[in-house]
Formats: sequence, structure tokens, C-alpha cells
Amino acid sequence: MKDIFTAPFVEEMKQTTANMYRLGWDERNGGNISMLLDAREVAEYLDLTRVVRTIPTGFEAKALAGKIFIVTGTGKYFKNVTPDPENNLGIIRIAEDGVTAELLWGFADGSRFTSELPAHLMSHIARLSVDPENRVIMHSHPTNTLAMTYVHDLSERAFTRTLWQLNTECIVVFPDGVGVLPWMVCGTNEIGEATAEKMKEFRLVVWPVHGIYGAGRTMDEAFGLIETVEKTAMTYLLASHLPIINKISDDQLKALAKRFALDYRKEFLD
Ligand code: 13P
Ligand code: ZN
Repeated sequence: MKDIFTAPFVEEMKQTTANMYRLGWDERNGGNISMLLDAREVAEYLDLTRVVRTIPTGFEAKALAGKIFIVTGTGKYFKNVTPDPENNLGIIRIAEDGVTAELLWGFADGSRFTSELPAHLMSHIARLSVDPENRVIMHSHPTNTLAMTYVHDLSERAFTRTLWQLNTECIVVFPDGVGVLPWMVCGTNEIGEATAEKMKEFRLVVWPVHGIYGAGRTMDEAFGLIETVEKTAMTYLLASHLPIINKISDDQLKALAKRFALDYRKEFLD
């Protein structure tokens, strides 16, 4: 059996949480990540017949029965994942009943998975239904994205258009646009269901006055989506109090879409 502390998926969680903390996106215990793992790969590191303990999830996720995820813990600080992965991360398998998480490793201090597990697992189900290769759901509190939700129209069309118009890369990186929820109480099944509903159409979902979710086949894809929104939100905040005289027109966005063969959300352009 290989040493779990050397597993590439543990390393990826360490590197990503450290990056997000360093960027100031995830204060205190803000943010959470879940990544779907390949059971055969996990079996190189862990005895999959040995369940450390079971934890009820509080919702039904039968579609994920048997699937294994590495997830961040509730109340855990991203800055502490790298020095202490075993207490800050956990590897869970969704049991056959769909309502129990079987802990295979981690949360060694008796802790448990993120309070946002409903949004994560329901979003995994939603993304897998449209993209069988999706593996990562990432939630973060990036500063400028958060601030943009204080001052910008929160319709999905308006929010997406502003981002597309201010950074040439945006429509290329997220032609599907940005979904936006109304403000809701976090950590609930309700916000999980609402997020997952959006995830059927969008890989990015903004929670106003809270943060953002990104989904992807890889950690880089989910991170890169959030990073691109955050960078553009920063430029929006730098310039939005000034008379903006140059931005990308709808015709120019359409030309970009043509050049990069983008399946973009047509109803978001005039
Ligand atoms: P957790 O510490 O439970 O992951 O919660 C952090 C957070 O960002 C809540 O939305
Ligand atoms: Zn949050």
C-alpha cells in the first residue's frame, strides 16, 4: 500500500487550498472543495473495506452511491491544509443508502466534511448529468467578485455581459456565462438544490454577498474559471466609477465566438 500523504489528489488539494488562501479568497474557514476520485487509484493508498466512521449527510444523493470524494472539512482553514492534511481533509464514499458518508481517511480529529456538502454533492450530480468527466466543485469568497455583487445588477445576463465586455478572455473561458442565485442561507439543502439547478447550465454560480462556485473536469478548470471572474471583477471595480469609453461590443464578442468556435449563451448578446 502506498503512503496516502504522497497521493497526487492529496497534493492537489494542498496546492489549491494554499493558492486560494494566498490570493486572499478564503479567509478563516471560508471556501470548500470537493473532488471526485477514481476508486482504483484510491485503492492504491487505502483499504476500501475499512470505514473509519460513518457520518449522515442530511440529504439524499443516491446517484453518487459508491463514489469517493476528497473534501475539505467544516470550520477548517485553507491555510492549515498543507501542514496538516489529515485533520483538515477527508476522503468519503457515499454509501449505498445515498444518505450516509463513509469516512475512509482524514478528519482525524473527529471533524466532518464542509457544511456546504449539499451544494457540492448536488452540484456533482448536476454536472455529471451534463458532463460525465466533471470531477471538481469549488467554492470560494474572492474579494472583488464579492464586492461586485454589492453594486451590480444581479441578473445573469447583466452580470455575465459586464464580465464578457471587460476582458477579452472571459467569453472564451466561460461562454456558458455565470449563473446567479438570489441571496440565500448558506449550508442548507435549499441552497444546495438551487446551486445544482444552475449547475445544469453553468459551470460558475455566484452567491451574492457570499461568494462563488466553480465546476470543472480538473482542479485547474474550476480554479481558472473563478480566477478569471475574480480578475475581471477587480478591473470592473477599478473602472466602474469612471466614464468607461472602451469595452468589447456585442459584434466583437460574436467575432471572438466565431474565431474560437464558442458555444456561447446566445441570449446574453444583443
Ligand atoms: P465550511 O467551513 O463548513 O466549509 O464553510 C465555509 C463556507 O465558505 C460556508 O459557505
Ligand atoms: Zn462560503
